[in-house]
Amino acid sequence: MSHTLIQKYNVPGPRYTSYPTVPFWKNSTLTQDEWLGSVQLNYETFGSNEISLYIHLPFCESLCTFCGCHKRITKNHSLETPYINAVIEEWRIYLSKMDFKPVIRELHLGGGTPTFFSPEALKRLISSLLSMASVHPTEFEFSFEAHPNNTTDEHLAVLYGLGFQRLSLGIQDYSPTVQQAIHRIQPFENVAKVHAKAKEIGYTSISHDLVFGLPKQTLADVKDTVAKTLLLMPDRISLYSYAHVPWVKGVGQRGYDESDLPQDSEKRALYEVAKSLLEEAGYLEVGMDHFALPHDSLAMAMKNKTLHRNFMGYTTQHTPMMIGLGMSSISDSWFGFAQNEKTVEAYQERVMNGELPVFRGHVLSQEDLVIRRHILDLMCHFETVVNDKTFLEQVKVRLREMEADGLVVFDGNKLLITEAGIPFVRNACMAFDKDLQGGEKRERMFSKTV
Ligand SMILES: C[S@@+](CC[C@H](N)C(=O)[O-])C[C@H]1O[C@@H](n2cnc3c(N)ncnc32)[C@H](O)[C@@H]1O
Ligand code: SF4
Repeated sequence: MSHTLIQKYNVPGPRYTSYPTVPFWKNSTLTQDEWLGSVQLNYETFGSNEISLYIHLPFCESLCTFCGCHKRITKNHSLETPYINAVIEEWRIYLSKMDFKPVIRELHLGGGTPTFFSPEALKRLISSLLSMASVHPTEFEFSFEAHPNNTTDEHLAVLYGLGFQRLSLGIQDYSPTVQQAIHRIQPFENVAKVHAKAKEIGYTSISHDLVFGLPKQTLADVKDTVAKTLLLMPDRISLYSYAHVPWVKGVGQRGYDESDLPQDSEKRALYEVAKSLLEEAGYLEVGMDHFALPHDSLAMAMKNKTLHRNFMGYTTQHTPMMIGLGMSSISDSWFGFAQNEKTVEAYQERVMNGELPVFRGHVLSQEDLVIRRHILDLMCHFETVVNDKTFLEQVKVRLREMEADGLVVFDGNKLLITEAGIPFVRNACMAFDKDLQGGEKRERMFSKTV
């Protein structure tokens, strides 16, 4: 890929896991009633009581210095019980305030590190949540994020017994130099052991998270990491671009210099080499940073144009509503977003006072809803149809340079991202984003687009 194009388009920009993006949410004090109103609107509009449940389990024993997730580093396992009590209580509050009885179709445990919690604690959490609501009788998908260093055979067996069939393993990179730089020592043997045990137990989908653009990471490191990954042939692979956001509070991005980070075309080359090795091995590229074997539902969703994108990245989410439980979790009713308190203490305190712990959010306007649809279509299907003539003209003007550079084409009122434009799809989305048209500084707001 052209070095000049990368230099030209590699600017700070959103990852578009939501629209509007979090820094532009308007309701800095979203009330419980405003949020529940948008949940009810979702139910009335889509006529479905099926929901996806996301549960954030924030604790990790050790800090990986590259990590941009909401987490709490601690070795104190006595924190497990009060936290789990709070999540169960939060769910009880939701159920008491919703005007309909939800049916769980998807359940995902994310973090932090869900496997920080003991198998018994996870069992109590899941059994309690499920005892209060119904699960779809046939179509349900339970998944969790597993840290290979602390996922035991018992974790795998207990969660499988509760209905979990999918897991993702945090890998990042196998190079000892990179692992030292990001403070995450994790030999291949640990991963292979957890992967093999999960297969043996009967998990039907295993995903590996890799990251490109990490400190001190070279082309040889990426090649070796992909080669090791291919020894295990996971069903899915996420190949995330390292998001460098050291200004965000609570993020541990230290222990390395900016000069240790591969930049621009050097960084993109890491993705390209991984992509070609994965495609050679039979994986299909899904969206801009995922790969899946052709049998996997993510690959099929890409093909059938049913792929979705939410706060976790690309998904096959089958419900119009996602409820997030736990500290910092984000819920999405399509008409609104709500985020929970971002510290464990504030989260637990509000729940134990009998309130939903929502502290900010956004209720989408009609204009937001239209833009959200365009951005989702571009991110998931690399095309969108713009029916509003005035808006189409505005977007055309904003995308003139990308069109001249062969990254996008217009076919009547349809905008298509070309093959060469795929790495720059976030830049194309930015032309639709009404919050980015004022020319304000975005340096300390978003990571770079490439
Ligand atoms: C919550 S962690 C996964 C579970 C578990 N904590 C672990 O580390 O194995 C989620 C994933 O987000 C990705 N991630 C975290 N920080 C990132 C960053 N700054 N840029 C890109 N990806 C990141 C990593 O691939 C990581 O595995
Ligand atoms: S990468 Fe995973 S284990 Fe490491 S700090 Fe982030 S959430 Fe915790």
